[in-house]
Amino acid sequence: MCGIVGYIGQREAYPVIIKGLERLEYRGYDSAGVALYDGKNINLSKTKGKVSDLKKKSSETVSVKGNIGIGHTRWATHGVPNDVNSHPHYSNSGDLVIIHNGIIENYESIKKELINRGYVFHSDTDTEVLINLIEEVQKKEKVKLGKAVQLALNEVVGAYAIAVFDIKKPNEIVVAKLGSPLAIGMGEDEFFIASDASPFIEFTNNAIYLEDEEMAIIRLGKEVKLRKIKNDAVAYPNILELQMNLEEIEKGGYDHFMMKEIYEQPRAILDTYRGRLLADKGLIKMAGIDQHLDKFLNANRIVIVACGTSWHAGLVAEYIFEDLARIPVEVEYASEFRYRNPVITDKDVVIAISQSGETADTLAAIKLAKENGAFVFGVCNVVGSSIARETHAGAYTHAGPEIGVASTKAFTTQITVLTLIALKLAQEKGSLSKERLNEFLTELEYIPTKVEIALQSNEAIEKIAEVYKDSTNCLYLGRGYNFPVALEGALKLKEISYIHAEGYPAAEMKHGPIALIDEHMPVIVIATNKGHYEKVVSNIQEIKSRKGKIIAVVTEGDEQVKALADYVVEIPDTLEALTPLLTTIPLQLLSYHIALMRGCNVDQPRNLAKSVTVE
Ligand code: G6P
Repeated sequence: MCGIVGYIGQREAYPVIIKGLERLEYRGYDSAGVALYDGKNINLSKTKGKVSDLKKKSSETVSVKGNIGIGHTRWATHGVPNDVNSHPHYSNSGDLVIIHNGIIENYESIKKELINRGYVFHSDTDTEVLINLIEEVQKKEKVKLGKAVQLALNEVVGAYAIAVFDIKKPNEIVVAKLGSPLAIGMGEDEFFIASDASPFIEFTNNAIYLEDEEMAIIRLGKEVKLRKIKNDAVAYPNILELQMNLEEIEKGGYDHFMMKEIYEQPRAILDTYRGRLLADKGLIKMAGIDQHLDKFLNANRIVIVACGTSWHAGLVAEYIFEDLARIPVEVEYASEFRYRNPVITDKDVVIAISQSGETADTLAAIKLAKENGAFVFGVCNVVGSSIARETHAGAYTHAGPEIGVASTKAFTTQITVLTLIALKLAQEKGSLSKERLNEFLTELEYIPTKVEIALQSNEAIEKIAEVYKDSTNCLYLGRGYNFPVALEGALKLKEISYIHAEGYPAAEMKHGPIALIDEHMPVIVIATNKGHYEKVVSNIQEIKSRKGKIIAVVTEGDEQVKALADYVVEIPDTLEALTPLLTTIPLQLLSYHIALMRGCNVDQPRNLAKSVTVE
């Protein structure tokens, strides 16, 4: 997954593209490049490293003038991150230039064929193969750029969002999409191209999101023309009015997006249940569920598919759905589900959870579930994303743009939506008494305030981070509802601080991980006063007697664990099923501070990307 940006209009393209690439760096940041057309020549600059490195290099080496340009920020798939493999890529003649997000799977056979015809390759990328294929088609068929792109794409297997520029036709950019996202911002006498709308949000609120297998010819002073890649059918653009605003995608006074997003959680959770949770009426209103209630109520089971942090939210949902709504739930890694020939029928409801709505494995799992007749419901954050469009129905999380690569507010808002769904189904099924339901609805309304209180431990957590920042390993333990939170806490730490961390169900510790415990091992234990408190206290004793260091997340007022642990962090009291919304907060803060103290790039951890559009 990579980020792509393009501009064609009256402005200087370079600053638009650079700013846009900075906003898309969450998609990949191991190299970056830009190609600008100054009315005569294409000036191309690219480099290994971040957009900031590109800025430095391009201002020193090329003219950055021109009203047309394309830019790219890369997450390497084919070919190591280096200057040569960075995008944009030229065709052999030097007339065509391309940026690409995705993978061309059959590039090797095409490359061989092109080499036989005399083409020379400078990089190891599949993208350079594609641009030369387009050039070869253009020459052989004597067609215009748009047609050549279309014919070439019909020969490739894989995924792509591309933008192609031809110096012989300098007033147009051709774009196409399959599997990777591509939005066109529609300004007045100007157009923007990007992987999502963030690069052009200050210029226009109107955007077209290309569908899979669609391409567009974007020509100055003309209407954007869409067509299907498979045949010549005209496609009709659906111009959406965007809701996003600039403030949401800037750091707003915080040093890092991750911290900003951690602190946004009270607001994000509130936005997620606003209008859906009607506590005074004892009701939950969710259009996506209300319209398809029969599907949920008649389902044999719910299968949740997701990746990464979203998968952890799915695990929390399993506890909530089974506990409250008494519906059997299975939670699957989308990447496993899609390839393991799962038994799925029209009696199953599949819930796909995804912040970005673009994760390739989750998308593939959805397609498989649909082919087998299941009803598929999406829980996504990004409005209009591929998963939001591919599912039969869904509910958005309303977290606002999440830019830090380590997911934080997406997790808590996903749990919020899934809790609302579970409560709604519990109400419909009568598996929860009216009193208990009302108790939940009322308590949910307190959660944003309680998250705010949990955030007040920030300074105390910073001090704990100082003590454990040099650890090489870390164990996270939780039981019941807080077992998935332990997994998520460990994931956060390893993602951004590169400390090896493992999450475990507290009681499983004795079946292996206990062997790791000595005086150097910090163990983060979630020990709230609900559920299996006494059992977890016993686990803490076991750690202590092996000299492990204990950092415990406890309910305010706790005395028992406080007497045992090296450090405790308090969270407000709440219902057991809602504790993950609070216990996760100190764990996010702990990983943030440790990563920062270790000098790691918190928002852009090495090797990771926010949106994984490759399998
Ligand atoms: C990447 C991100 C994770 C995220 C996962 C699933 O690995 O770095 O933070 O949890 O993808 O992404 P999704 O957008 O589907 O929730």
